[in-house]
Amino acid sequence: MNSTPKEFQFPEGFLWGAATSAHQIEGGLTNDWSVWETSEERREELHSKGLLPEDFISGHAANSFVEQNADIQCLVDLHANAYRFSVDWSRIEPKEGEFDEPALLYYKQFIQKLRAHNIEPFVTLWHWPIPLWMRDKGGWESKEVVFYFSRFVEKVVGALHDDVTFWMTLNEPMVYSSMSYYKGVWPPKKKSVISYVRVIRRLIEAHQAAFHVIKKIDPNSQVGIAKHNIYFEAYKNYPHNRIAKSLADWWWNKRFLKAVQHTSDFVGLNYYFHSLVRIGGEKHVYEKSSDLGWGLHPKSIYFALKELQQFKKPIYITEHGLADKGDQHRSWYVRESLFAVHQAIEEGIDVKGYFHWSLIDNFEWAEGFHPRFGLYEVDFKTYERKARSSAAFYADICKNNRVA
Ligand code: BGC
Repeated sequence: MNSTPKEFQFPEGFLWGAATSAHQIEGGLTNDWSVWETSEERREELHSKGLLPEDFISGHAANSFVEQNADIQCLVDLHANAYRFSVDWSRIEPKEGEFDEPALLYYKQFIQKLRAHNIEPFVTLWHWPIPLWMRDKGGWESKEVVFYFSRFVEKVVGALHDDVTFWMTLNEPMVYSSMSYYKGVWPPKKKSVISYVRVIRRLIEAHQAAFHVIKKIDPNSQVGIAKHNIYFEAYKNYPHNRIAKSLADWWWNKRFLKAVQHTSDFVGLNYYFHSLVRIGGEKHVYEKSSDLGWGLHPKSIYFALKELQQFKKPIYITEHGLADKGDQHRSWYVRESLFAVHQAIEEGIDVKGYFHWSLIDNFEWAEGFHPRFGLYEVDFKTYERKARSSAAFYADICKNNRVA
């Protein structure tokens, strides 16, 4: 059967990029995560599961702090016009109140190099780890964290604002608070509803305070968060499933965004999951899934975008991708998802950019080095970057501003 090949042009000025975070790629960091990764407790936990602790220690990660030019080359080869990365609080402020000026200069120069290649920097100010001194003060549960975070933000934005317009204060606050304070899987491994709710409150306050700090330094800046949203679909639209969907939407997708709505210029969407809400029914089985077993449902990004329309802000897809070492599904997944993104744009949703997660293979938190999210494969012994075939596929999209 003959079917017309699909081909969709994106709006002029659309941003095409990839995303990373400091702890996952840079290497050489000392923060609450690195200490946990090398702790006796963690070692024993991994041993008991028959896993090698070395595979779960970020260490040099992808060595990006040293290999920054190699990363920039990957972006250039992709024809990317934007790059989302983070600065790690512990690198900038290793001791309370002592700021590492050479580290700030490092980022200034890095950003200038990006700009020289016409790559728009999107800087995340917090992508999960915290400095040890902040951990010792009670981390995100402490009342003081909002003050300390704002001071750190002021320092970073003060140093880099000449070359940066887009700032993301926080990455996925709901994921972090639930994994670290409710499920107790990530440091500081708490399991307490009270702590969970308290941390969410602090994160909201931290965002709001940071927003004002950034605007004071640069009124023309664009500030937002990177928010992990799930598209909850009520199975067969049954009323009980719809109720469950609304509750899940309210708690996971909307609550935080509503709280920061008046202190955000844009919404950053990190999209990975479709969830079929089916009370009392069996779990949905997806046709294709990633190496982490995450079901792939590319079309649902359309609905996730539609649901963000209520916030009346421009939307950037600040993360979207999959663990796929063999690169079996990545091009298909990107293509199908972007068709859905294009449909949303056609219907008037103001999507302004797409950042693939991730530019390069990296350290995937509690899952260690096994999941491979990169458009570029990294050899963790030599740190060589090698394009997967999906990188060429994506480069074509970035270059032509078109998905076919
Ligand atoms: C996080 C990334 C992570 C990715 C894949 C997002 O939740 O922001 O740090 O590597 O998902 O799991």
